[in-house]
Amino acid sequence: MSGKTIWLTGLSGSGKSTLASALISVFGARGHHCAFLDGDVLRSGLNRDLGFSALDRSENIRRASEIAKLLSDLGNMVFAAFITPMEDLRKAVRSVFQPGDFVEIFLNCPLCVCEARDPKGLYVKARHGLIPEFTGISAPFQTPKHPDFVIDTDRFDLKESVDQVVNFLEKRFPEYCAASIPKLRRGRNSRKVAVIGLDCAPPSIIFDQSGRLSNIQSLMRHGVWGPLKSTDPPITVPAWTTITTGRDPGELGLYGFRNRLTRDHYNVVTVNSKHVPYPRVWDHLEAYGKRSILVGIPQTFPAEPHSGVTIAGFPAIEDSPDFTHPHDLLKQLSCLGNDPYLSDIRDFRALPKDSLLQGLYSMADLRFRVAQELLLKEQWDFFMMVEIAPDRLQHGFWGDYERQSPPNAAEARWKSVIPDFYKYLDDKIGGILALLDDETTVILVSDHGAKKSTGGVCINEWLIRKGLLALKEEPIQETKLTEDMIDWDNTYVWSEGGYYARIFMNVQGREPRGIIKKADYERFRDTLRDELVAMPELNGECSTNVVLKPEELYRSVNGVAPDLIVYFDSLSKRSVGNVGMNDLLVKGNVAGLDACNHDYEGIFIATRLSDLRKGVKMDVNVSFASCRDIAPTIFNEYGLKCPQDIVGRAITIGGSPETSLIFAENPRMDELDVNLNAECKGLQPKKKKSSEDVYRIWDIFDLF
Ligand code: ADX
Repeated sequence: MSGKTIWLTGLSGSGKSTLASALISVFGARGHHCAFLDGDVLRSGLNRDLGFSALDRSENIRRASEIAKLLSDLGNMVFAAFITPMEDLRKAVRSVFQPGDFVEIFLNCPLCVCEARDPKGLYVKARHGLIPEFTGISAPFQTPKHPDFVIDTDRFDLKESVDQVVNFLEKRFPEYCAASIPKLRRGRNSRKVAVIGLDCAPPSIIFDQSGRLSNIQSLMRHGVWGPLKSTDPPITVPAWTTITTGRDPGELGLYGFRNRLTRDHYNVVTVNSKHVPYPRVWDHLEAYGKRSILVGIPQTFPAEPHSGVTIAGFPAIEDSPDFTHPHDLLKQLSCLGNDPYLSDIRDFRALPKDSLLQGLYSMADLRFRVAQELLLKEQWDFFMMVEIAPDRLQHGFWGDYERQSPPNAAEARWKSVIPDFYKYLDDKIGGILALLDDETTVILVSDHGAKKSTGGVCINEWLIRKGLLALKEEPIQETKLTEDMIDWDNTYVWSEGGYYARIFMNVQGREPRGIIKKADYERFRDTLRDELVAMPELNGECSTNVVLKPEELYRSVNGVAPDLIVYFDSLSKRSVGNVGMNDLLVKGNVAGLDACNHDYEGIFIATRLSDLRKGVKMDVNVSFASCRDIAPTIFNEYGLKCPQDIVGRAITIGGSPETSLIFAENPRMDELDVNLNAECKGLQPKKKKSSEDVYRIWDIFDLF
């Protein structure tokens, strides 16, 4: 059977290339052999001798249509994206093909919208007279008179546009579309996993309000879902690193995004990807020849080399060459235009609400656009992105969200900001799902939840008043506590602030100037624990403090763990490390606006897209998932063995509701096993990384 040519005409910026790539991913996934002829690509090679005069455009289009014909005669589904500005050019193209093998689709998008999008920054140059004969500005574009289909790309998003065109093509070429070329043998190797992370997304929004979130709801209906137990502590960096390694924070030696690296120093430093001592999921997958796209995952800066691509996540420096792998990745992306890609909103607590909200939308918008472009451009087996915006949003607006009766209309407008943002995220997730084929398992996950913050406990102030922490000088005003301010010879205990308090004891022979005798350590720690549980000085304000010893929480305790971990008022209150405070309790956060604290449970939804698209009813609610189960679950989806010493268990996805209620039979591998496995001939698993690798990093992240 001969192939078909789908000729996309429209102004520059109307979305021809984007739509063509998305259609190729849909038809390619069905087994069609697709070819893509793009104006920009041809003009940089085969047609580089041609410019934009009427004559040159005509020659450009003539060559393109002849190639399309050759490719289509070989059975290909050819997508051709050329402005083709004049009616006589379109007529000439059509005359090359048999009537039943060709359609012209007009991407109808007003000039002003294309100009506003200006993805390549060409319109602005054309307006300044820097590009002559620019279509729409200084060269004509005739509205197509006889297109076979028109799509208003200013009114529909990519997913909707793709759906409409697929529908049209299925009707126009029913036999051709149904008779796809038999798929390549799709064994285990063709399975893909796409993880979409929403930092801080709580069950109370995702599950309880899923009626408004149609894409998420559909993932739940056709998959497995439930709360996800976060890590101890339930905070971004250790939780995502647990999710991506299968190891708990104790095994990782990572207790926060700022960590004490050695006992020789009292201070904490911002951690980075080099401090992750175990291979991540994608390192293991690479050993099996699988290629990954990684976008925005916390603790992936500096981006490390691998066969796929990375854009690092928080904490990261965007203008460092190590922000991406490969280094010029952002330059290769056409969707970015002149917009700055951000890993996070710096100083988000200090911003006015309007600016914060605007910043969050543009940051997330760009991340999803980038993710889509990478999904379309790159060969991949594993995709993972994390959007940090919901966390920042909730820290800013949770108070408004929970407020029953806002005092006036100006304040009332903030109340719906959080639900509206989740609706927006749901649409964006829909845009990603549209680009994934049926062989993909989608895992939607958050690292921890959110709850209302009722203020903070000034832990170091409390330690000072107890006589446990001594300062060289009494601060005259509120100040961040730093190592040099402390009189170490008279200090027993100090603490770091944050969502939880990290209590460090100054122990003889362990800390540089320790004063607690080793023999007294346990007795001292138990007494301190009892005091921290009770805290009578706070007049009952903190009656549900949770105080934990690291060795009770973790499989092993590596790195420099705090001696005690404290969740004030079961995480309703944060820990304020500053000194020079008048009181032991504060409202809000010393760093500025803050209305929410982290909660123990995030969310987990896992769905095989084949189930979703076939309409298999699953809707299986599981209550046992934890961050450590995500890595084994991913391995299981590929049919790969899970490293022996990862304790998490794989959750069964797909099949039928009954089989999903149990953990999967989860084969384990020894490190050696990898080499024996026929699937990864010649590939070695990554060596464990060394946590001594200290990257020069900046303490610019003053989020606590
Ligand atoms: S066509 O008019 O001959 O059909 P074609 O689709 O191949 O054009 O190439 C259009 C692409 O060339 C645009 O998307 C834009 O990136 C680039 N371009 C550079 N100069 C011009 C110009 N003067 N007019 C239109 N597009 C231009």
